[in-house]
Amino acid sequence: MCGIVGFVGKKQAAPVLLDGLSKLEYRGYDSAGLAVRDGEKDPVIVKAKGRLKILSEKTADGDAVKGGCGIGHTRWATHGEPSENNAHPHCSDDMNVVGVHNGIIENYVELKEKLQRHDYKFYSETDTEVAIKLIDYYYKKYQVGPIDAIAKTMVRVRGSYAIAVMFKDYPGEIYVARKDSPMVIGIKDGQTYMASDVPAILKYTNQIYYIGNMEMARLDEGKATFFNLDGDEVEKELHTIEWDAEAAEKGGFEHFMMKEIYEQPKVVEDTINSAIKEEKNQLSVDLSAVGITEEDLKNVSDIVIAACGSAWHTGMVNQYVIEDLAKVPVRVELASEFRYRNPLLNPNTLVIVVSQSGETADTLAALREAKSRGNKTLGIVNVVGSSIAREADYVLQTLAGPEISVATTKAYSCQLVAGYVLAIALGKAKGHIDAKKENELLTEMKTLPAKIEKVLEEKERLQWFASKFANVHDVFYIGRGIDYAVCLEGSLKLKEISYIHSEAYAAGELKHGTISLIEDGTLVIGCITQNDLYEKTISNMVEVKSRGAYLCGVTSYGHYNLEDTADFSIFVPKTDEHFAASLAVIPLQIIGYFISVAKGLDVDKPRNLAKSVTVE
Ligand code: AGP
Repeated sequence: MCGIVGFVGKKQAAPVLLDGLSKLEYRGYDSAGLAVRDGEKDPVIVKAKGRLKILSEKTADGDAVKGGCGIGHTRWATHGEPSENNAHPHCSDDMNVVGVHNGIIENYVELKEKLQRHDYKFYSETDTEVAIKLIDYYYKKYQVGPIDAIAKTMVRVRGSYAIAVMFKDYPGEIYVARKDSPMVIGIKDGQTYMASDVPAILKYTNQIYYIGNMEMARLDEGKATFFNLDGDEVEKELHTIEWDAEAAEKGGFEHFMMKEIYEQPKVVEDTINSAIKEEKNQLSVDLSAVGITEEDLKNVSDIVIAACGSAWHTGMVNQYVIEDLAKVPVRVELASEFRYRNPLLNPNTLVIVVSQSGETADTLAALREAKSRGNKTLGIVNVVGSSIAREADYVLQTLAGPEISVATTKAYSCQLVAGYVLAIALGKAKGHIDAKKENELLTEMKTLPAKIEKVLEEKERLQWFASKFANVHDVFYIGRGIDYAVCLEGSLKLKEISYIHSEAYAAGELKHGTISLIEDGTLVIGCITQNDLYEKTISNMVEVKSRGAYLCGVTSYGHYNLEDTADFSIFVPKTDEHFAASLAVIPLQIIGYFISVAKGLDVDKPRNLAKSVTVE
């Protein structure tokens, strides 16, 4: 899941590459490298193990590497340990082809053996070196030029890739290709930029081309020419990206994660407003941009939601919401399981895939699995032009904007409200929600941004609480129904950025085994936003307290007797209980954040993780 950047133009390439890579470090950060060509000279390759700043130091922020045409890479190791040797760019021994790659070449062992039979030697453990040398092999064997050599390689390799290469015989040109890994190309003022993700080049241009799956392109100064696998030229439309570069920066916050937590009121509001309309003081759902009609919804027999990680957690919340509001059965599946378990789908099962990046390999595979069975698919996706956004039959775009922190917050919140809107639309289509109820629910949804603001006012108190627990070893999150689903997210937030073991448990399930782990001082966080489950969950909290747990409770305004049970209480505004997850999750995000800060960890780039998981 690495990040790649390319530049060809009149400026020096290396500073542009380093700048772009710094925006992509969330995709991988165990080593980095760049290759830059000055006119017809051979490329200069510089690599460094560790964070990008080491590469920056090594190249004097790029000044030490001259030339206007180059490619760069930040790595998240898949084949071979993080090391300078395995870092990209990789090259053929005579420097005929130099390239960077994001993704995985599944049949690289077999291809390596084939190349070894043709006297190729290998210096790294990477699949990328194999891909680069295979291009070199076809280029020399058939003498057909870069596009045909790359096309022959694409037909031969299995797996996913976004690849950028420079050929010795073609100075001032970069050749790119992609399959199932993201890549965008930007143009401005006679300069051409390429990257795995928009924020890497947004500072320079908002005029973007999306290169399709199994397509290639030749980039030269101010120009991109696209080709299909047959080598025929294909026309592409230039898209204007509306985000500004500022939106992809930290904006005064210490970490992207906190900035993104604070953006939630705005992006939740934007996402809600994009899917509703107001006529004569009456709010109603408007899914015209999604492309799904009331008739389509009426025909839905049941729903499968497939996603990974936090996106899966939003599916868990929305399972409760959809079943309750629309009376349509919902099954929530981990995309990584769904794709391999031959799932039973009815002809009218709607398969919803949820993804911030729109590139998560397992979620994309789940989408394709559903499509191959003839089922209709709906993507709840944040990144415009991503693979899921392009391949799903219907797309509900969340408007979270660029999310940089590996730990998702604002995209999660937008996915939640996207699910609520769908639940209401489905409920209406199925005749369980009338116009009055629809208006009431949407009116309440529109209050969520202000209520999230209110929860954010608790920040200092939550920081104080979090700092006391920086050294705990185990934390349990317990709740029932929607609260259980919120607990799953709270627990993941804590473990991924604080490296503290934690588990989310349905509150009633703890006593079936796990309660034996509770001992003096174990932190247990109970979520109780659902009225009819309040007493039940309180009882479960009392059970753990009597075994020594330190209790933190999250509930809505009015339930002040929580303070009789909990050692630390957090109150969030009241809302329709279907939407309570949108408020209850906020303090859990903030607690996770501040525990990580208190431990002095790298909040935005936790170890072993990457933002966009494009490998299975
Ligand atoms: C959550 O903080 C994680 N970064 C992770 O669980 C994430 O939600 C998951 O990998 C899915 O990513 P996606 O939304 O881009 O598909």
